[in-house]
Amino acid sequence: MPNVLLLPGDGIGQEIVPEAAKAVRAVGERFQVDFRFQEALVGGAAYDDCGDPLPEETLRLCKESDAIILGAIGGPKWEQLPVHLRPEMGALLPLRKKLELYANIRPAVLYPGLIDASPLKPEVVDGLDLVVVRELTGGLYFGTKKREVVDDEEQAVDTLVYNTGEIVRIGRLAFQMAQKRRKKLTSVDKANVLASGRLWREVITELGKEYPDVELEHMYVDNCSMQLVRKPTQFDVIVTENTFGDILTDEASVLTGSIGMLASASIGGDVGLYEPSHGSAPDIAGQQKANPLATILSAAMMLELSFNMPEAARSIEDAVRHVVEEGYRTPDLMQSGGKEVTTADMGDLVAEYILKG
Ligand code: IPM
Ligand code: MG
Repeated sequence: MPNVLLLPGDGIGQEIVPEAAKAVRAVGERFQVDFRFQEALVGGAAYDDCGDPLPEETLRLCKESDAIILGAIGGPKWEQLPVHLRPEMGALLPLRKKLELYANIRPAVLYPGLIDASPLKPEVVDGLDLVVVRELTGGLYFGTKKREVVDDEEQAVDTLVYNTGEIVRIGRLAFQMAQKRRKKLTSVDKANVLASGRLWREVITELGKEYPDVELEHMYVDNCSMQLVRKPTQFDVIVTENTFGDILTDEASVLTGSIGMLASASIGGDVGLYEPSHGSAPDIAGQQKANPLATILSAAMMLELSFNMPEAARSIEDAVRHVVEEGYRTPDLMQSGGKEVTTADMGDLVAEYILKG
């Protein structure tokens, strides 16, 4: 029986993770699978409990589980802590590294019911269906950092390192994903300026020879950020390094109507981690205003990628599509004529539809 570890984390994480668990339970009932759930503390919540944003116990439970659903971490309460104790640098990044989650997959899909919620014109965004494959354990996030005084001035250094092996493994995953989709891969770099970008481009070009059925194009990151709002439907799969992926996925997410719709899967190691792409939204936490759909859709990715249950994954996606088309909206998606619901209502509606099938 599949063992799922729930890590609600901070802020709205506490409200959205239970809704994803609801959807997985409904799937369990419909497809006769006995999902087991455990829960642990991470981020600011863990720091408040025991002074460590990533306690040993949490890490152990992560490694013992079959998959992890994470809500969000961080908030103003913990921003003044020394950097190694902050939820981002003290929990989320070490978790990605220790679990070897080198690939972050973030699909941006426009649900037809949400076309008017997108900031882009309907004719520009209609048909949007892309996926960003973001390298997750290298680059600026994990390179050597230092602070020093040089010539009486404070200086800070971040190092951007990539080696061939890191580029090959993320590249392969992206090519294989493109093979299963519309067979187009856009590799995004800054090869005109960065040495790491030139290596990235060389390695991906070489790798492309093994995937002749995939149309490969290279794009500079600045151009890509423009193309995403100019003509986002030109993209199928985008592969890019860690920092560019962070930035481009926020941009891609809002094209779908709300960052509250963007799911993500972090994979590569033995245990996959599934989390929405958005943050902990402390401004609306505890008010049942958060949109749980990104987390629910992340759970669908878990069913597909960790448990090889594509049909169950589709049942969640269908339920989300249905609920959105029926006009149910959390405040982030609200438009005139919509039916405003709470976080928990949204979770109930999705679970009900999964059960009805
Ligand atoms: C994300 C987030 C994280 C990142 C933060 C919270 C460290 O923005 O998952 O995109 O930058 O990777
Ligand atoms: Mg981000």
